[in-house]
Amino acid sequence: MPAALPAPDANALQHSARLSALIGEEIGQSGGSIPFSRFMERCLYAPGLGYYSAGSTKFGAAGDFVTAPELGPLFAACVAEAVAPVLRQLGPDAEFVEIGGGSGAFAETALKRLLQLDAMPARYAILEPSADLRERQRERLARQLTPLVFDCIEWLDTPPATAWNGVLFANEVIDALPTPRFVLRDGEVFEECVAIDADGGFARVDRPADALLAAAVRHVERDLQRSFADDYRSELLPQLPYWVQAVIGGLRDGAMLFVDYGYPRGEFYLPERDAGTLRAFYRQHVHNDAYRWPGLQDLTASVDFTALAEAGTGAGFELAGYCSQASFLLGNGLAQRLQEVQARGDEALSLKFANEAKKLTLPTEMGERFQAMGFVRGVEFGAAFLEGDLTWRL
Ligand SMILES: C[S@@+](CC[C@H](N)C(=O)[O-])C[C@H]1O[C@@H](n2cnc3c(N)ncnc32)[C@H](O)[C@@H]1O
Repeated sequence: MPAALPAPDANALQHSARLSALIGEEIGQSGGSIPFSRFMERCLYAPGLGYYSAGSTKFGAAGDFVTAPELGPLFAACVAEAVAPVLRQLGPDAEFVEIGGGSGAFAETALKRLLQLDAMPARYAILEPSADLRERQRERLARQLTPLVFDCIEWLDTPPATAWNGVLFANEVIDALPTPRFVLRDGEVFEECVAIDADGGFARVDRPADALLAAAVRHVERDLQRSFADDYRSELLPQLPYWVQAVIGGLRDGAMLFVDYGYPRGEFYLPERDAGTLRAFYRQHVHNDAYRWPGLQDLTASVDFTALAEAGTGAGFELAGYCSQASFLLGNGLAQRLQEVQARGDEALSLKFANEAKKLTLPTEMGERFQAMGFVRGVEFGAAFLEGDLTWRL
């Protein structure tokens, strides 16, 4: 249990207690335990109570974590630079679909930059499951964009089902997908589940895995050409291929771009990483007690980029590139954006942007931990993935 976390106030504790009671009821009705992935789903998305469904701050310095678009405009400007050639190739009907729009910071800069680049999509759709975040996005974008640009934004309840061409983008979304956890016992695959202990708190219990999870673990072992040792515990998203197919909906020609933190498979499942990659984020503190204060902290797991490559190609797309976030941003105009600010002669702004660029690119910050992976069908990314190719590591 982490010692030095700032204590939530009484209201927040009450909120968390309500969610805990709801999860406890479900555990009771499910014969004494639920899979960890269901526990994580409830913690993040239970209507009105889950971390992403209720109204706490979450993003930025006052929240629990800072994502790349929250640091400033550089990240989204570089993504816009990368996808502009794809949108232009697809012509005036091309659309842009953002999965998990957060505070709306990404959409704001991306749309402003795409307009400057003469690559405005016909529609900018945001697929956002959290009603609270949707409202925050709408309010911010209405304030920050001209009515003409704002009018091309649409919020989707479900992925676009009709045929569309364009770009699908997601930053830090796959790490937030409720993930199953597995553990090996006497060579057999077990699934981590959550039960209630004698004191009424949440406790971990392992149950024999179902066929889907067991097969997915064996697939990873075959691919790695080694077996997991007993007691090896980690995360795996057997549903990732289905999720990718679902979120692209009717996408015909276009590109998909995912940015997230993670590793190629060989590193994700290093023998010494035997407690997995699950992390909790609470007011800029990172720890690994997933049961602490349900609903008040974000829960995430790193992305297995080899699995993402399999899911993207399995959906009928070609892998266009995989590189670190630092290489991706540098390959898509980061230095030019910094030079533009310097040329304006505003020293304070130049310093602010230089600090932002450092956070985005330094290996000790987000530069290497975060990676970008792109897929294409019927179009080309142009120069977006020319820097620092890492596909050989997948
Ligand atoms: C860590 S936040 C990242 C937000 C934003 N992309 C950013 O970079 O600031 C995760 C976002 O993904 C959304 N999300 C989680 N699961 C999702 C899903 N299955 N489909 C669409 N969005 C999802 C959350 O509601 C939230 O907006």
